Amino acid sequence: MVPIEERIRQLKKEKNAVILAHNYTSPEIQDLSDYVGDSLGLSIEAAKTAADIIIFCGVSFMGETAKILNPTKTVLLPEPDAHCAMAAMCTGEQLKDFRESDPDCIIIGYVNSTAESKKEMDLCCTSSNVVKVVNSVKGKDVLLVPDMNLGAYAASKTGMDVKQWRGFCPIHHGITVTQVAELKRKYPDALTMAHPECRKEVLDLADHVGSTESMVNVSKDSECKEFIVLTEVGMRYRLEKESPGKTFHFLDHAVCTTMKMATPESVLNSLETGRGEIILSDDVLSGARDPLARMIDLS
Ligand code: 13P
Ligand code: SF4
Repeated sequence: MVPIEERIRQLKKEKNAVILAHNYTSPEIQDLSDYVGDSLGLSIEAAKTAADIIIFCGVSFMGETAKILNPTKTVLLPEPDAHCAMAAMCTGEQLKDFRESDPDCIIIGYVNSTAESKKEMDLCCTSSNVVKVVNSVKGKDVLLVPDMNLGAYAASKTGMDVKQWRGFCPIHHGITVTQVAELKRKYPDALTMAHPECRKEVLDLADHVGSTESMVNVSKDSECKEFIVLTEVGMRYRLEKESPGKTFHFLDHAVCTTMKMATPESVLNSLETGRGEIILSDDVLSGARDPLARMIDLS
């Protein structure tokens, strides 16, 4: 019997497919992927790929983003029910209503949002470029959706009065000051890195705030040997792989279960059968493209 990883490699070659995976996916998925990264890196990689088929291991907004950037290509999400809980907290209809009530306000949307809501946005951003994106519309009235913590972070970094939505990531929002203080007490020499989806009072305790990819870079570049990592536990794999000999402390409850859904078996199934194809209407594809393209141009 040919091992599953070998069958995936063969089929990928035959079908000219590429596998993209987010930093939170399981080690087995990261090992069989062509590119592993944060949301911005994945969007850029999706925008420039020459493959005919993109297999996206992550959550549905990431697969949708790849489809919007490559409308003529086939994008497959091996686990079609892998959704981001925060993305569901802001709908396209709600944004249409907001636009009617405040037509001059610039709507900036975190990529962790549905394709229908992206269609109603002016600009997209990710955790790694949010400050640059918000600064690009300095002087204007701005609403940032759906993450209130990312909105507060952008406001504090730009000095702008960024209006916030009431959305949040249950995993990052669930990290408390008490839990962080306990980790800091246990590991007093550790450098603390936090994702901007965490609450402001948690970010205030961090030495570095940034995207998942920035954490990989900081851990590699820093002279520090020990880190407290305030994000999803899946980050441990890349951090340990790329900074051998360094130690990383996580909060065990910070697990995004939908990021863990893709398995080598579901990837093979998708490649063999076309399961999980992302289908978006022409209306959504064309409406959501500009806000994403503007973000990529700024990056
Ligand atoms: P990054 O873009 O920093 O990888 O974040 C994506 C995400 O879903 C964080 O919860
Ligand atoms: Fe969404 Fe949070 Fe999971 Fe990231 S960690 S995909 S924001 S639910």
